[in-house]
Amino acid sequence: MHQSKDRPGRLILLCGLPGAGKTTLARRLAADLPAVRLCPDEWMAGLGIDLFDEQARDLLERQLWRHARELLALDQSVILEYGFWTRGERDEKRLAAQALGVGVELHYLDVPFEELCRRVEARTAEGAAHTAPITRELMTRYAALFEAPDAGELALFDDHADPPAPGTGR
Ligand SMILES: Nc1ncnc2c1ncn2[C@@H]1O[C@H](COP(=O)(O)OP(=O)(O)OP(=O)(O)O)[C@@H](O)[C@H]1O
Ligand SMILES: [Mg+2]
Repeated sequence: MHQSKDRPGRLILLCGLPGAGKTTLARRLAADLPAVRLCPDEWMAGLGIDLFDEQARDLLERQLWRHARELLALDQSVILEYGFWTRGERDEKRLAAQALGVGVELHYLDVPFEELCRRVEARTAEGAAHTAPITRELMTRYAALFEAPDAGELALFDDHADPPAPGTGR
């Protein structure tokens, strides 16, 4: 599982549904490693783009991926907060990182559906910045689309364990 790497930078993929805690974990990892955190929601909000504009999101994610590869080539570590709901998206980034000679980690935040709904509802009620207001109905649709990584897939990455979050008992 742990392959020798040509370059010191790492690509870190954060996988999970809305409310799973990707941004929360990414902020901590970015400070600890250090790494550059690329969060499409924050960029879209900053550019005045509707967070539900899927075409704009797709274009932005491609652009940020170009930026990520430049950073990796400069030996910086990069965290992508794209959610990575499908195996195909994860495979693409894993294979690209391996071709670049950088380590690639998958952090899968597996949180029960009711807890996801609770967190997203609380976050919306707080009016958190750079986050989409997501209803329970939307969450149900998203959960049906989500392809959870299995043990076989996780083993293809260089690392997939999350350090325990302070105060959460995880
Ligand atoms: N480990 C955790 N335990 C309890 N609450 C958490 C945990 N991680 C994050 N949260 C809370 O859950 C909410 C959602 O977290 P966060 O914004 O990090 O999720 P996200 O995966 O980035 O969501 P989105 O995909 O919508 O951006 C926040 O209010 C956050 O404080
Ligand atoms: Mg987020």
